[in-house]
Amino acid sequence: MKIQYLGHACVLIEFGSHKLLFDPFISVNELAKHIEIDKIETDFILLSHGHQDHILDVERIAGNTGAAIISNFEIVSYFQKKGLNGHPMNHGGVWEFEFGKVKMVNAIHSSSFPDGSYAGNPSGFVIWNDEQCFYFAGDTALTWDMKLIPLLCPKLDCCILPMGDNFTMGIEEASIASDFVECSTVIACHFDTFGYIILDKEEAQKVFEQKNITLLIPSIGETLIV
Ligand code: NI
Ligand code: MN
Repeated sequence: MKIQYLGHACVLIEFGSHKLLFDPFISVNELAKHIEIDKIETDFILLSHGHQDHILDVERIAGNTGAAIISNFEIVSYFQKKGLNGHPMNHGGVWEFEFGKVKMVNAIHSSSFPDGSYAGNPSGFVIWNDEQCFYFAGDTALTWDMKLIPLLCPKLDCCILPMGDNFTMGIEEASIASDFVECSTVIACHFDTFGYIILDKEEAQKVFEQKNITLLIPSIGETLIV
């Protein structure tokens, strides 16, 4: 799969013949000014929770592309009222889409819309087809529930974990999370966007090296092949 990092927690993943965009927050991200948001092509937009730094550009990109939203019931309903298409899920459920299977998994965080209204529970996603499987954790703390993923899903080729600390896991917890989900290729996200979440990249590499886990800390716009 091809994974392009678009800043903060936003990644665009080419998975089989489809494109999946996660948690778009680009237009006001000072660090992502070089990303041409209106040129983004995607078939689906997956949303981990309702916070502004994960849904800001949904309407703009869905409007440009006609992409369908995959998220929890509350978030999909919210965007359906705005005229967008979507597929609602909830924790523990699996659905087979044209690009592969999606399982919605637990995340320990909070979830409300920018106006304060209820946005359901935060989540992560495990996504697979016949060839590959990956985990997008969303905003989360380390949670024992991550141990369920290897029991219920195919072997992970990579996982995308928040690492900026303060609002989510930091380096240490993320390294334990990669053990819990039994994955040896980790892509960092949710770092450097705000002053609260500056990532010490050298320290992160050191911690992951000690565990023999490959840590990829992408620059914004960079494309990784996994
Ligand atoms: Ni959040
Ligand atoms: Mn966030």
